[in-house]
Amino acid sequence: MRTQVAIIGAGPSGLLLGQLLHRQGIETVILENRSADYVLGRIRAGVIEQGMVGLLEQAGVAERLHKEGLVHDGTELAFAGARHRIDFKKLTGKTVTVYGQTEITRDLMEARTACGAQTIYEAEDVMPLDFDGAKPHVRYRKDGKDIEIECDFIAGCDGFHGVSRQSVPATSIENFERVYPFGWLGILSETPPVSEELIYINHERGFALCSMRSPTRSRYYLQCSLAEHVEDWTDARFWDELKLRLDDQARERLVTGPSIEKSIAPLRSFVAEPMRFGRMFLAGDAAHIVPPTGAKGLNLAASDVHYLSGALVEFYREKSSAGIDHYSARALSRVWKAERFSWWMTTLLHRMPESSGFDRRLQHAELDYLVSSPAAAMAMAENYVGLPY
Ligand code: APR
Ligand code: PHB
Repeated sequence: MRTQVAIIGAGPSGLLLGQLLHRQGIETVILENRSADYVLGRIRAGVIEQGMVGLLEQAGVAERLHKEGLVHDGTELAFAGARHRIDFKKLTGKTVTVYGQTEITRDLMEARTACGAQTIYEAEDVMPLDFDGAKPHVRYRKDGKDIEIECDFIAGCDGFHGVSRQSVPATSIENFERVYPFGWLGILSETPPVSEELIYINHERGFALCSMRSPTRSRYYLQCSLAEHVEDWTDARFWDELKLRLDDQARERLVTGPSIEKSIAPLRSFVAEPMRFGRMFLAGDAAHIVPPTGAKGLNLAASDVHYLSGALVEFYREKSSAGIDHYSARALSRVWKAERFSWWMTTLLHRMPESSGFDRRLQHAELDYLVSSPAAAMAMAENYVGLPY
């Protein structure tokens, strides 16, 4: 088989890249080692920057997002028993859209099927080969047969645990990592959200987040220790603990109900450099992970794809390799700014196990400054709505 760009991974990065390239007449084949249903079954985040909304429009998959997505002009920060609103729209002129990653993945999958572009699900033993040579190709097994796809380029969009980054020689890659000593216990419930906008909570019992997927479906998170097991958390225990971390008004408004999904996720910051290895490019979680506190994971995957699709179009259309030669530096520059913001939000809003009384006072002083200084609020808002591409 032969194609122009072989994409490994049918998550948001791979599917969005496939759609943007297809619309520019560039042929791709996507190889995914799971089934489509499995990919769609993953519950992930759902706060979308305006830049990513623009990319989804460019890919022709924003219709349902505009119909069902919730546009938020701001968010709330709660600490010391009070809530404070950060008005993104007033500070930056920009908004964010709440629309689940699962829905984005579904829209992209349907668009890809509709345009007849090829996706091979349940491809086993996918392996990118010779990407540092002149004849890159990807080998995989399907129905007991080994198959090879020759291509001009390989896009490694296979997430943190994928094969693409792992196939890079250790001498050619440098990893930067910070693992946080706590996790997020999250639930999804068919209950009306406790507030119009998200509430990020700094509390002495630990961080909490009130989010949503729709006017009837809510998503809540609690900071928990990594020693916790989800089986130890009944729904009742979850709601009781959440109520302890909410301000009075939110506690009164909270509607509880059975969870339809419950899981614990560890928090990590990770960046691999560079993001290009000859004719293979890494994009999204394959190259970097952010803790979810800044709502940047999905949006960073999108900005990588923005730079990569532009570079590949430039290569095929103008026979110029300027874009692909600058891809890694451009993408990493935005990645590190989002890493910094996500780390800052995480250290500001979580209870650090080793934190002293002095540390807690500093956190509150920084939160106090943030909600009383337009300059500080502007800096937070500018990063939250998304820095320009
Ligand atoms: N071969 C083929 N496919 C693979 C392999 C492999 N060896 N390993 C992983 N995959 C697939 C996974 O099954 C998954 O569908 O690659 C896809 C990677 O998707 P994601 O992990 O969602 O990564 P990405 O598309 O970069 O999206 C990043 O996902 O985790 C969230 O917060 C993150 O929102 C961000 C987004
Ligand atoms: C979510 O809705 O799942 C969500 C929202 C904001 C975050 C993280 C997760 O920062």
